[in-house]
Amino acid sequence: MSRKMKNKVVKNLKIEKIATEGKCLGYHEEKVVFVAGVAPGDVVDVRITKGKSTFMEGTPIHFHEYSSERIEPFCEHFGTCGGCKWQHINYDLQKTYKRQQVIDQFQRIAKVPLPEIAPILGSGETRYYRNKLDFTFSNKKWLTLEQIQSGEDFERNALGFHIPRMFDKIVDIDHCYLQGGISNDVRNELRAFALANQLSFYDIRNQVGLLRNLIIRTTSTEETMVIVQFGELDQESIDLVMNFLKEKFPSITSLLYVINTKGNETFHDLDLVTFAGKDYIEEEMEGLKFRIGPKSFYQTNSKQAYELYKVARDFAELKGDEIVYDLYTGTGTIANFVAKKAKQVIGVEYVEAAIADAKINSEINGISNTLFYAGDMKEILNEEFISSHAAPDVIITDPPRAGMDEKVVQMLLRLEAPTLVYVSCNPATQARDLALLDEKYQVEKVQPVDMFPQTYHVENVVRLTLKK
Ligand SMILES: C[S@@+](CC[C@H](N)C(=O)[O-])C[C@H]1O[C@@H](n2cnc3c(N)ncnc32)[C@H](O)[C@@H]1O
Repeated sequence: MSRKMKNKVVKNLKIEKIATEGKCLGYHEEKVVFVAGVAPGDVVDVRITKGKSTFMEGTPIHFHEYSSERIEPFCEHFGTCGGCKWQHINYDLQKTYKRQQVIDQFQRIAKVPLPEIAPILGSGETRYYRNKLDFTFSNKKWLTLEQIQSGEDFERNALGFHIPRMFDKIVDIDHCYLQGGISNDVRNELRAFALANQLSFYDIRNQVGLLRNLIIRTTSTEETMVIVQFGELDQESIDLVMNFLKEKFPSITSLLYVINTKGNETFHDLDLVTFAGKDYIEEEMEGLKFRIGPKSFYQTNSKQAYELYKVARDFAELKGDEIVYDLYTGTGTIANFVAKKAKQVIGVEYVEAAIADAKINSEINGISNTLFYAGDMKEILNEEFISSHAAPDVIITDPPRAGMDEKVVQMLLRLEAPTLVYVSCNPATQARDLALLDEKYQVEKVQPVDMFPQTYHVENVVRLTLKK
């Protein structure tokens, strides 16, 4: 970006509407200006941080007018913590904007004939709805400008969330409204214990330090899994921390730790140690039990996951004699959820531990018409796989944010299953895939679902049928 552009301030920018990724947009000299932390109707001065030939990006530095759509955010960490970017917008409007996002992405990217897009299915709970949170320990606590300017000495160890775009800065979280149960207490008590015992918090830049990461998973059946990641093999200190958690929180049903000295925080490839309790937690849905291991994906809003799965099952229109493929099955939740209404369900997923859980989930629920396979979708879903299994009547696909690999989409086009149900957490990549599927499929129904209140994220279910 040119020096001139870098110091540029756009004055009195009227914020017109919501754009993607939680940002809003306004227009200046025929260019679109994307701005974060504002609401449609605000009038702001914006410092430009990025300038391209067709658009600019910036941050608000002064508000002239506040939109009537604004409400007071309820969390003290709003604005610094990147978690709930839409707390300043009332929930009804959040839902309107999320549905609009689906419409905009589908019109802009998919460009296929569309039915009426149903009103979004709102979440019953708009706070404390998450069943999983991931906190990072850091010796680089984020300090506000006022704190720095005060000249006072502040504790620099923190346990909380990453500041957006600053990988080594952590907002120290005092209360998070996303997860209920004992989540806030576990985090705060563990931090206090670590500080009192002078245990080292991770130095993300230099990759040293004992305490690295804390994951808390809860269920609607009141089970809690706590996983502590340590950056150093110091067994005495590890035992000190784990015994503290075990004694202080007897309601933790699954207490684990992992020693991770790698460059990143993922632990899919590492062995976890079960310190106390079971090595899994169990969720329940329609009388079905779902076992969730520490490495397995499970939809993070359990109550709304039930609503989402009901939509997927309705869209599949199963009569009982169908062969169903459940692609990106995770722990086989959708597969097991629809199994009663199908002849056979085949689930595919690349995390082996999740597939092991998927099989157990069938077993503990007495479901015998499921088969599960672990592998990368674009490799496993090949001619050999197809010829050794019955052809699918219905395919349910629920890929990660990146959407489906083009090879997978091409395979779906070759398979020609009469019905396709596409569950997505990213309408942009879903729209891209719909454009490819348009060669043989038409979009029949679209149902956005809100799994993540206070954020711009939207889940969306599409029913497609083969064109005649
Ligand atoms: C959005 S989750 C859906 C999980 C499941 N359908 C559910 O509702 O619990 C996407 C899943 O895709 C899996 N996955 C991601 N990339 C994959 C790939 N290339 N091949 C197979 N599975 C993949 C992830 O591990 C994750 O479990």
